[in-house]
Amino acid sequence: MARDEDPKSWHPAAWRHRPAEQLPTYPNADALAQVEAKLRAAAPVIRIEDAARLKRALGCVRERGFVLQGGDCAENFDDRVADRVDRLAGLFDAMANALGDREHLVRIARIGGQFAKPRTTLIERQGDVEHPAYRGDMINARSFGAEARAPDPARMLRGHAQSVGTAATMGVIRQDSAPIYTCHEGLLLPYEEALTRRDADGSWWATSAHFLWLGYRTQQVDGAHVEYLSGIANPIGIKCGPGLTPDALAAMCDRLDPDDTPGRLTLIARFGADRIEQELPSLLAVTKGRAVNWIVDPMHGNTQKHEGRKTRRVEAVQRDMEAFFALTREAGVKPAGVHLEMSPNDVTECLGLGVDDLDPAYRTACDPRLNRTQALHIAQQIGTLLA
Ligand code: PEP
Ligand code: CO
Repeated sequence: MARDEDPKSWHPAAWRHRPAEQLPTYPNADALAQVEAKLRAAAPVIRIEDAARLKRALGCVRERGFVLQGGDCAENFDDRVADRVDRLAGLFDAMANALGDREHLVRIARIGGQFAKPRTTLIERQGDVEHPAYRGDMINARSFGAEARAPDPARMLRGHAQSVGTAATMGVIRQDSAPIYTCHEGLLLPYEEALTRRDADGSWWATSAHFLWLGYRTQQVDGAHVEYLSGIANPIGIKCGPGLTPDALAAMCDRLDPDDTPGRLTLIARFGADRIEQELPSLLAVTKGRAVNWIVDPMHGNTQKHEGRKTRRVEAVQRDMEAFFALTREAGVKPAGVHLEMSPNDVTECLGLGVDDLDPAYRTACDPRLNRTQALHIAQQIGTLLA
């Protein structure tokens, strides 16, 4: 289904006419409008030419190379930016060594804008008290209370400022080595709309990050998030998870990439070790012949509770990933990359490889991340699979 209208006649506010999942309702419309006006006048976080360069690099991955995408589930306003960038870049380098073929590795960090979270349960209950769930620092605050959990549009300005600082820091430290591009879920549409800019040729680009992805919970084909992503020219991802039908995926690909442009679409399989074998093959079949990259997120389908906290077992992460490599290869599709939630620090959030107790350093604001040792182990496993 090619779009009949000229993509250049699309407008960043087009999503407002569509039903939207997972967006906060701001109590004060004037305050929201003021923030949006400030963001429209604000500096872009990334340069369009760099996003275009990433798109070209992703367009070559089916021939040669591999995508390494990863970082925190959610960034925080109290993160120490320079230190975090430095450490995450160090982890990317160490993983690149383990993966081999460093020259053609495309590195994309979940950083510089990963501040808004979709939630399965929109209400959090503690004892007899209920408040809206935490939705990421760009929307509300982590502490449990009515005021903390009320969505505050001014948080978008703070998120933008931190993202600009993060992107600038990354540019400085990566000047002499492989670039690390930025990505986050394209979720908070008022923020994304306000940072959408027009290039000289008339095309529209998100300037909040080089790469945005469509989350598992917001992929209604006629919904607001698909509408927004359909109009921007950036490289984008689609999370593909349990229950996604081949027809729905084909419809999304038609809508988001009608011209089958290499580098435009990265399909991110997040089924979990116990479901991937059942669900991935029919999706690989329906995208056969399209210029998409298939990569694996072996995190989000493997979340479980352990003593009241969310965790993931490294063993399940590894099984999910190995199944992905086997299934793609059986289908004649290149396993083109991996998407991980990981920290360069010694956090204790995922179980395995030295972590059997979550207490010592459970720090995540949202989902459990692999620590440095665990992430390097996974990179080594991938290096073996790719060798
Ligand atoms: C995420 O990547 O943090 C996330 C929420 O993923 P998904 O949409 O796949 O659940
Ligand atoms: Co997550």
